Amino acid sequence: MPRPTVLATRPLFEEARRILQEKCQVEYWSEPERIPKEELFARAQDKQGLVCLLTERIDEAFLHAAPHLRIVANVAVGFDNIDVPACTKRGVVATNTPGVLDETTADFAWTLMMAVARRLGEGEALARSGKWTGWDLDQLVGTDVWGKTLGLVGFGRIGRAVARRASGFKMKVLYTDVVHVSEDTEKQLNAEYRDMDTLLAQSDFISVHVPLLPETQGLFTTAKFARMKPTAFFINTARGSVVDEAALVQALETKKIAGAALDVYEKEPVIHPGLNRANVVLAPHLASASLETRTKMACIAATNVRDFFDGKRPPNILNPEVLKTTG
Ligand code: GLV
Repeated sequence: MPRPTVLATRPLFEEARRILQEKCQVEYWSEPERIPKEELFARAQDKQGLVCLLTERIDEAFLHAAPHLRIVANVAVGFDNIDVPACTKRGVVATNTPGVLDETTADFAWTLMMAVARRLGEGEALARSGKWTGWDLDQLVGTDVWGKTLGLVGFGRIGRAVARRASGFKMKVLYTDVVHVSEDTEKQLNAEYRDMDTLLAQSDFISVHVPLLPETQGLFTTAKFARMKPTAFFINTARGSVVDEAALVQALETKKIAGAALDVYEKEPVIHPGLNRANVVLAPHLASASLETRTKMACIAATNVRDFFDGKRPPNILNPEVLKTTG
């Protein structure tokens, strides 16, 4: 039997390549630039599997160009780049990489929170500029993180990992989500439920941990920023499109909030020019970017593909109904 053919849009990591190659014949895109859309379409034309990144749009047009495709494995937990219903309609399995990036992403939400509160970006620029004149009493004074109120919008695995870290900082933790966690979990994490408006009004740091869904698209509007304290900081490591970026810029310009720290943007890699301000920390979508975690993510995507072609249920299937109909 010929081995199933797979396209991987990055060379992945050695460990992941080994997993994929156990069952599949793999073509890797290994040019320094990302795969152009025409190349993606052309190379996927005869492939049965695809390992892709969240920057590749897997939509109806792509699926049409890849008629032999049976599985798409996203190397990401978020899968808003994949039209899952379109995959299901064509009998294509879609998978993601949940579970392995929660702690690393939570670390990064904290990195951003600390950086914006303590003005690290400005401090680093000054230290590198050659213009630093030495310690001064009121130089780049920021705001304390410890002892403040942290509001988590979205209290899934990542939101909870962020909450766990807050106890060392003696913070009050509030959360809002469509589901309330159990009383036990609330106690363990020292977290209290609030409705969205109350959370926004009471929090000193608001950190976003919801997935991008039709219901969360543009969730943070002018009205939401208006409810925040003028001293509040807004942190986003989730997806840019949960925020109306123009509304955020306006909130910063009119001092409705004190600052923001962002890892994700509405139109990546384009960043709204109005966000280029001293009180905003900007990162280029790095929250899961530790070598350990990115290696695990690639290995999980590879395992999803290998298991599928081995006749097993892929561990992280997003549309299990495909397996039911194809048997
Ligand atoms: C990264 O943003 C991911 O969704 O894994």
